[in-house]
Amino acid sequence: MNPTATAAGPAKTDFIDILPTAHPLLQHFLNVAMRLKKQYQSTGRNEPLAAGKVLAMIFEKPSLRTRVSFDVAMQHLGGSAIYISPNEIGLGVRESIPDAARVLSGFCDAVMARTFAHATIEGLAKHSRRPVINGLSDHSHPCQVMADIMTIQEHFGHLDNLNVAYVGDGNNVARSLLEICGLMGINFRIAAPAGYELDQRSIDAARTMSRNLNFMATTSPREAVRGADVIYTDTWISMGHEDEKAVRLPIFHPYQINRQLLADAPGHAVVMHCLPAYRGVEITDEVLDGPQSVVFDQAENRLHFQKGLLAVLLGGQ
Ligand code: CP
Ligand code: NVA
Repeated sequence: MNPTATAAGPAKTDFIDILPTAHPLLQHFLNVAMRLKKQYQSTGRNEPLAAGKVLAMIFEKPSLRTRVSFDVAMQHLGGSAIYISPNEIGLGVRESIPDAARVLSGFCDAVMARTFAHATIEGLAKHSRRPVINGLSDHSHPCQVMADIMTIQEHFGHLDNLNVAYVGDGNNVARSLLEICGLMGINFRIAAPAGYELDQRSIDAARTMSRNLNFMATTSPREAVRGADVIYTDTWISMGHEDEKAVRLPIFHPYQINRQLLADAPGHAVVMHCLPAYRGVEITDEVLDGPQSVVFDQAENRLHFQKGLLAVLLGGQ
């Protein structure tokens, strides 16, 4: 939990990063999300926990899943969402971050933001009187990995003694995945090329926050997937890094998730990808569409997790 008492109002709860959010609060988000998922699947509707509430959604980058899942989650909970495109708000250019936060939190009940700089989300949180949610920054993607944990829990029926192997870029998704695996007691390995590893500071922070972090870093995808229950990858070229494409593609080529790599993992291992996937680049069609892929369950859980999160932050759950 990041309860922040602002000059403008009482304490509120933001969701900016997995760390330092308290484990019981993360578990509570998941419990509420699971309850609302079952409720929606069995009755076709949810309790109007966010009736009359409005979520502002600021996007500096494109999105399919994050944008639509937050909007639909608000609708299912009886509220609504407003999409604010990069051109409209001009954060830090047309209007300062503190001013935008003050104005939006006067109109809306919560703010979700997808930004380049992580400091932009932290700045919004500092000056908003209402909860602020990180919908992805260059640093982290906490809502994504909470939906991923839901998917892992559903697939295996537990989170005990599981091994997650992330293969690819040590990026925002990898960092949040390390943090949630550390907090949930899941063993985490990453195989990344030299120069694209997770930074030592993030690894140290995860070690400090999780009592027995079982972490391993390697440059070998085969080593990482050996004994893995979950094999996870993401794009090699995150939003904002498009100009590095020609340099990155040959470096990352040995890190593709394909049939040969899966042959080194246990047959029960599942494959995850936060999407959007660049088919034939970081993952083959055969694997993405194959029997070990849980990628589309994972994508659907974005909706269910957002509901749990919003029901707690806005709906008093
Ligand atoms: N995984 C994810 O965040 O997808 P979008 O970029 O489409 O929101
Ligand atoms: N690492 C990717 C995640 C997309 C959901 C990016 O930042 O573009």
